[in-house]
Amino acid sequence: MPKFLILFGNTTLLSKLEFEATYPNCSLEQLDEHLFMFESEATLASEMIEVLGGTVKLFEVIKELDSDIKDTTLVEEIVALLLSQSEEPYFTFTQIGKGQHSISNADIKDLIKENGKKARYFSSNPSESALLSHKSKATELLAFNQIEDGKLLLAQIRGVQDIDDWTNRDRSKPYADRKKGMLPPKVARMMVNIALGLWQQKNTAKPLLYDPFCGTGTVLLEAGMRKLDVYGSDIDQQAVFGTRDNLEWFKKEYEINISSKVFYMDASHINPEEFTSKIDLLVTEPFLGKQTPKDIELANVFKGLEKMYLGSFKSFSNVLNNGAIVAIVFPRVQTDKRIYSLDSLIDKLKAKGYNLLVDPVIYAREGARVARQICLFSFDRQI
Ligand SMILES: C[S@@+](CC[C@H](N)C(=O)[O-])C[C@H]1O[C@@H](n2cnc3c(N)ncnc32)[C@H](O)[C@@H]1O
Repeated sequence: MPKFLILFGNTTLLSKLEFEATYPNCSLEQLDEHLFMFESEATLASEMIEVLGGTVKLFEVIKELDSDIKDTTLVEEIVALLLSQSEEPYFTFTQIGKGQHSISNADIKDLIKENGKKARYFSSNPSESALLSHKSKATELLAFNQIEDGKLLLAQIRGVQDIDDWTNRDRSKPYADRKKGMLPPKVARMMVNIALGLWQQKNTAKPLLYDPFCGTGTVLLEAGMRKLDVYGSDIDQQAVFGTRDNLEWFKKEYEINISSKVFYMDASHINPEEFTSKIDLLVTEPFLGKQTPKDIELANVFKGLEKMYLGSFKSFSNVLNNGAIVAIVFPRVQTDKRIYSLDSLIDKLKAKGYNLLVDPVIYAREGARVARQICLFSFDRQI
């Protein structure tokens, strides 16, 4: 089976969880901080970049060379590969990890010229090259030196995250409320995928997803991208109207036909009559407290939040199916003196049928006072 290299985004742990939940048959081998290798059928690999929120690039290993290959021979290998695919290559060559060879794009271009052909190369700046190779079908080659195994993996780009499309979904939806704090769409997608993947490992039917703190509907839009039918609710009537508008925009923009229902509801008093059947996936980011709490306020803020979360979890049980998966954001604040979190809630939730599936993963935006801690539970009704 072909081998692939996958480059995860900054939240590697979350990206890895997403990959493993979505593709449980592909086992990952970590090569570098963000770089992993796996074997898979090519058809499966080709859909991954569209499906996953936490993956930046996907490469296919084209050749396994000797780890201590001479620089000149490596340039020859690269040139042969590029010329076998294009009369006039437009390319970039990057290396990740230890034992890098001192060759540059200019060395590669020079040898192509010596072969009587033209070539152009572009910057290896990761975000810039991501855009370029996506739009112009330019070629990106990556070398990773697996020194311990004596192998140098030469890989070619197969997929790049469509940054424009992610930005479009985030910025062009009609209703936004940045003051409340919107979930980044990639994080929402990762949460949806993790919940969906874990659920699919035990079930075959199409699951129903619900976000009881829907805000602007970020989770619902990402669930829509995975073609799931969705329910959303919020205690703020503006958010309810706004999310409805966003979903209508989304269905037209992406020509996706999903069923959705969004209504006003306090998450701690959910009315089961709003739903046609029980919920399989509950994916949500509740109110996390104010965005910049003072140190002196934190003890009280977290006390209040714990009460609200506990009340909401009790109310979730009225609408959850047995075996449902809950992917939920908990707030976390680290001061000079201590960490404030809702970790103490996890044991209390166990008694109510919520079992923590993996250690919570922290997602913190640079400079943000309140970090997000992503927690995953399976729900088993207590008799
Ligand atoms: C952090 S925002 C969610 C943002 C959302 N993930 C997004 O990306 O747009 C939290 C939302 O919870 C809502 N909310 C707060 N308390 C609530 C409650 N008791 N029941 C339902 N919704 C509540 C707020 O109105 C707000 O829209």
